[in-house]
Amino acid sequence: MSRWIAIGALFVLAGCGGGGGGGNSAVVGASNTTPPVVAGNCNAPATDAQVMACSLGRGVNLGNALDSPQEGDWGVTLSDTLFDKIKEAGFDSARLTVRWSNHAAATSPYTIDPAFFQRVDFAVDGLLSRGLYVVLDMHHYRQLDGDTLDAGEFPVADAVLEDRMVAMWQQIAERYQGRSAKLAFELYNEPHGRQTAAKWNALAARALTAVRASNPERMVVIGPVQWNSASALSGLSLPADSHLIATIHNYEPFTFTHQGASWATGSSAWLGTVCCSATQLAQMTAPLDVAAQWSSAQNVPVWVGEFGSYEQAPAASREIYTRTMRDEIERRGMRWAYWEFASGFGIYNPTTGQWKDGLRQALLGQ
Ligand code: BGC
Repeated sequence: MSRWIAIGALFVLAGCGGGGGGGNSAVVGASNTTPPVVAGNCNAPATDAQVMACSLGRGVNLGNALDSPQEGDWGVTLSDTLFDKIKEAGFDSARLTVRWSNHAAATSPYTIDPAFFQRVDFAVDGLLSRGLYVVLDMHHYRQLDGDTLDAGEFPVADAVLEDRMVAMWQQIAERYQGRSAKLAFELYNEPHGRQTAAKWNALAARALTAVRASNPERMVVIGPVQWNSASALSGLSLPADSHLIATIHNYEPFTFTHQGASWATGSSAWLGTVCCSATQLAQMTAPLDVAAQWSSAQNVPVWVGEFGSYEQAPAASREIYTRTMRDEIERRGMRWAYWEFASGFGIYNPTTGQWKDGLRQALLGQ
């Protein structure tokens, strides 16, 4: 089952579907409720991890490039121009999403292809050299979650999936151990499916141990299961380690953000949905409140690593949604990365060199 069928099903069960957009009266601006107070939030970061989570500031995902089966398959090819544009726009950080699993051997020692590593070097160093913070993740290891493979991927034996994940992290960590502290690692994007909380907690601990062998103090980002949903934070059990940042993703209201997205089952019926009614605003902020409360209770910073809306959503609503999310996240003392820079959710068109200026302003303007 894909992420999107599962999420769609959750919507229906929760009665949050909403369907087509008719009848949503858009309300602009922040919610009236007072968000939860977060200990050590970005108004007063106290620990190294809180300082880093806040320094990530306003960021963007460099998505659909190295996380596609092969770079270019999903329309984005990395270039110095793209790195320049991210910097020029005013972002503080970039999340570099990488499908390592399609570039590592199927058998032990699971060697990562040196040519692919050089491509990742180009991106990591291109972003760091422009003064950006970088979060380097592991994305779309589909078999790990029990998902079907994408075209152009190869299967590995089920029995080696987790050892291979840990071995990939050992190699990645060793390769980048000398890079600046502005580089963070994120162990795995959106664990779900057969990655239950218990399995994921154990696997994340193993992967972290592999990272710590060469990077004792590098910041490491770990998110909960169910596609990094805030509601699964309660089941996330982090190893005792003071250099960890937790992450959540928030695509609420899903019928707005994913309308017309081919990978979200039933999404053509949502076309025309606008944003943001009071009901939608409550859907957007509820996960943020959960995350802020968890962060405060655990004294672990939370970073919102993905939110965004697809290009088929009405343009004016996308701007309202985007600015509202930015402001609501920041009001709770958290920082974020928008999904994503140069593809279907993007703010920059690499073919024409044009910005979606309204979205750029919504993210980075006054
Ligand atoms: C996935 C992308 C997807 C995006 C929005 C991300 O986590 O990796 O493939 O486009 O979410 O749906």
